[in-house]
Amino acid sequence: MNTPVALEPLYELDDAQLDARIEAAKEKLGESCVILGHHYQREEVYKFADLTGDSLKLARLASQRPNAKHIVFCGVHFMAEVADILSSPEQIAILPDLNAGCSMADMADLPAVEECWKQLATVIDPEASVTPITYVNSAADLKAFCGDHNGTVCTSSNAEHILTWAFDQREKVLFFPDQHLGRNASAKLGVPLEKMVVWDPNEEMGGLTAEQIKEAKVILWHGFCSVHQMFQPQHIDMWRERIPGVNVMCHPECSYEVCQKADALGSTEGIQAAVRAGAPGSKWVIGTELNLVNRLKHEMPDKEIHFLSPSICMCSTMFRIDPQHLCWTLENLLEGHVVNPITVPAREAASAKIALERMLAIV
Ligand code: 13P
Ligand code: SF4
Repeated sequence: MNTPVALEPLYELDDAQLDARIEAAKEKLGESCVILGHHYQREEVYKFADLTGDSLKLARLASQRPNAKHIVFCGVHFMAEVADILSSPEQIAILPDLNAGCSMADMADLPAVEECWKQLATVIDPEASVTPITYVNSAADLKAFCGDHNGTVCTSSNAEHILTWAFDQREKVLFFPDQHLGRNASAKLGVPLEKMVVWDPNEEMGGLTAEQIKEAKVILWHGFCSVHQMFQPQHIDMWRERIPGVNVMCHPECSYEVCQKADALGSTEGIQAAVRAGAPGSKWVIGTELNLVNRLKHEMPDKEIHFLSPSICMCSTMFRIDPQHLCWTLENLLEGHVVNPITVPAREAASAKIALERMLAIV
């Protein structure tokens, strides 16, 4: 093993030098390393990804490069955890910067969800009547909770399928941490808003009455994405006035009011595919993270593409992965050092895998 490569000096390189170092390290590592990139990654990092996608696609891809001993995940922490859970035991998932978390994922934790389950049990029998579904944007121990309680995981691209499955299993769903995805997908399936209640983990009984819990079909956790909550219904009105006939497409982490006004909803992969399939000259307004929208604009100059919000909505944690951290990660692998491995404890990983494999079998 050689001396570890230091991160700080990499900040003294110019863009071209840094690119050349990343390219050279990638070349030397060959098939032993695969770089996965989420669509929200900044361009300087995204361009080095071997495989790109939304959370569902990346979860599938994580297990499909068996020759890659190292999976370098340019995304956020929960994504690297999924890669660790779904890949073979010999493979190692790496997150180039451990500060790349997801603030929404942090809005639900295992003790709070267990407490919710316990409190629900004072009113209904959750084991018999509630299917827990965690959005993939959550810690591995919450996926394990779902695995242990006959529940599953969903992503923004399969939430409706997963909810349909869940309603076939039991009467009610407990959906965490993103209330908006849960509400938007349930509404698409025809669940009336009055059958959805919001569980506030800071309140006794989630701030709900026993009657409200008994009447509810969907119990939504009080979580949200701080990036997507910046989009407002009046932004859509403004664009429709400015560009008659414009196609408005939003990510389902946006609020119900925004999603109701949009022409279509889609995961990051779904948004990308829809715009790519649009006719030359077609006009689009997109409600999701800025890096993806800018990339689509750049890729398709023959289309008119706008960002929904007048203010900048960027995912600051996705942005933590910069080319310097990518270079540092790859060059350390060449020196025999694995920086920032993401290892989910075995028992937790086994239960989380049940929940994730259940999801992958449904869609
Ligand atoms: P996608 O699964 O659509 O890529 O979404 C992930 C995410 O974190 C959106 O904020
Ligand atoms: Fe999490 Fe929102 Fe960032 Fe997606 S955009 S990773 S939900 S904070």
